[in-house]
Amino acid sequence: EATTVVVIGAGPAGLTVANLLRRSGIDCVVLERQSRAYVGQRQRAGIVETRAVRMFESWGLADRVLGGVPSEGILEFRVDGERHLVRDYDHDGSAGPPARICPQQVLVQKLIAAYLEDGGDLRFEAADVSLHDLTGDRPTVRYRAADGTPRSLTCSFVAGCDGDHGISRAAVPAGALTAHAYDHGIGWLTVLADAPPPAHPLFAVSEHGFAAHFPRGPHSSRFYLQCPPDDDPGAWPDTRVRDALRTRLADPALPFGPITDREVFRLRSLVHDPLRYGRLFLVGDAAHIVSPMGGKGMNLALYGADLFARAVRDVVRNDDETALRDYSRRCLRRVWNDQEFSDWLTRTLHDAGDDTLHGPFRRNLARARLDRLFTSPAAGRAFAELMTGVEPD
Ligand code: APR
Repeated sequence: EATTVVVIGAGPAGLTVANLLRRSGIDCVVLERQSRAYVGQRQRAGIVETRAVRMFESWGLADRVLGGVPSEGILEFRVDGERHLVRDYDHDGSAGPPARICPQQVLVQKLIAAYLEDGGDLRFEAADVSLHDLTGDRPTVRYRAADGTPRSLTCSFVAGCDGDHGISRAAVPAGALTAHAYDHGIGWLTVLADAPPPAHPLFAVSEHGFAAHFPRGPHSSRFYLQCPPDDDPGAWPDTRVRDALRTRLADPALPFGPITDREVFRLRSLVHDPLRYGRLFLVGDAAHIVSPMGGKGMNLALYGADLFARAVRDVVRNDDETALRDYSRRCLRRVWNDQEFSDWLTRTLHDAGDDTLHGPFRRNLARARLDRLFTSPAAGRAFAELMTGVEPD
């Protein structure tokens, strides 16, 4: 069997690549290890930034992919119980629509539906995917279909969109890519709870440590609590989580319902360079991990997908490889920009609170940065530019 592009992985990156190629009239096959039910349930990121909303608009996909999803343009920073509302899109609206609050699994379900509606080829439960001849003209992808039959596909390009633990990056010989990894030394306990969402996405800073409260639907919330890295989630029964949130959010009456999911993870960042090996191109989490502060992980996946799909379109339509040769450099430029923002916000919101992490000097620096954000219009605009991902033209 032959196609133009084989996409490995049906997360936000792979499904966006597939939809954009489909809309460009380019053949592709998506291979996903899990079932449709599994990928449509997996809870992860939750914000689609302005730049990504515009990207879907430019492909005529915004209504189908983001229709009915609420928008949000304000963040609350609660510092020692004092509220500060910060607009996270430009003040005159010229950047376009504000960000959308869209849980990853909702985006994934809608991308799957749009792709299949357009006649796309998506194969779930594809096992033992392996990549061959990546440096030749026609790479081969082998796998075992859901019914157990061995299959093979030849193609012009492979899009490695199978996340940080996928097989795509693992297929690259040692030494061909450099990994730049950073551990922030911070743990987060995250819980999903049947609790009413906040008025606006909320970050809380206090001596008790960082906390956050984000909407995840009309009756559900995701909460984050700073904790020691590698803390045991079992050490956080419901009542302890509730009490810690009430203290850190300075809201003794915070309504809190049963916890449906509970996890501890370390804040880490990782960038691979370059994002290409022969005819394999890495997109999304397979290429980079961003610490969750600032919500850039999924948005970078969407950015890379758009860059890659446009570059392939240039090759197929005009025999022009310029953009494809430039994919890694352009994508990495945005990746480092967003890593810097995420790191800045991570340091600011943790150092400004509990000063056992980096001491009182760092605490005062972080407080000065917050003060500047709340009072200087120029600082507010710079923040909005980073949150929206839209640079002035
Ligand atoms: N073969 C086929 N599919 C695979 C394989 C494999 N060997 N390994 C992983 N996959 C699939 C996973 O099952 C998953 O559906 O690849 C998909 C990868 O999806 P994501 O991990 O969501 O990654 P990506 O699409 O790059 O989206 C990035 O993840 O961490 C978040 O914040 C980040 O939301 C952003 C998103």
